[in-house]
Amino acid sequence: MRIDVLFGPAASAPSVIAGRVVVVIDVLRASTTIAVALANGARNVVPLESADEVITRAKQFERSQVLLAGEHRMLPIAGFDIGNSPLEVTRERVEGATVLITTTNGTAAFAGIQGARDVVVASFVNFSAISTLLRAALRGGTDVTILCAGRERQFSLEDAACAGRYASDLVEHMPDVELGDGAFVCTLLNARYGDQFDRLFAESEHGRALANAGFKDDLVLCAKLDAYPVIPLYQDRQITVLGPDRER
Ligand code: MLT
Repeated sequence: MRIDVLFGPAASAPSVIAGRVVVVIDVLRASTTIAVALANGARNVVPLESADEVITRAKQFERSQVLLAGEHRMLPIAGFDIGNSPLEVTRERVEGATVLITTTNGTAAFAGIQGARDVVVASFVNFSAISTLLRAALRGGTDVTILCAGRERQFSLEDAACAGRYASDLVEHMPDVELGDGAFVCTLLNARYGDQFDRLFAESEHGRALANAGFKDDLVLCAKLDAYPVIPLYQDRQITVLGPDRER
């Protein structure tokens, strides 16, 4: 079995998407925010590609059932209920709600994923939950592709290091699993940073940009390993929690 890591859009590499378990990572901050929202009882999270799409989709809901969420250049979008901060998706705010969200890179990463067996959303905050699912997938004969959302279609250090943590953990448990070159390089980043999330975020461009924009507390939350042990499953263009009734 095999693990690949993609640093570009899914559509550019359909052969490593079809039939696989695909793991979408945007550690700072979309995939963390999605995991926290679902852990705090959001009914579902719908990733959308633009603010206009969020506004249009919201019209299909009772206003009280929906939250408009997202960022532009890291800041909340004018007129929306919340931004893209994992600190904003508190239980009080999201429980029972549909969260319609658009972000620069994270939500865009879902576009172009076609034919995957399953698509899950990963970060550090739900690391072990996702890793357990990936081990089961590999044992059952399904290859894994980790899709790093990156930054402005460029490589991003924190996504690659997080991908490396997953790849390293899987190889540790299953030494026969083969790593593509991208996955192998990510394991080297994981070896460099390990649990030093402060250092990782301080050395990453987006980590520094968030800190400079006043989101240092978001970085602290994004580094809370396993604090939100949910498996967010993307299916039919929405993300819900994979529970015991829907085990893979
Ligand atoms: C994104 O999707 O580009 C990021 O989550 C941006 C952010 O930090 O809000």
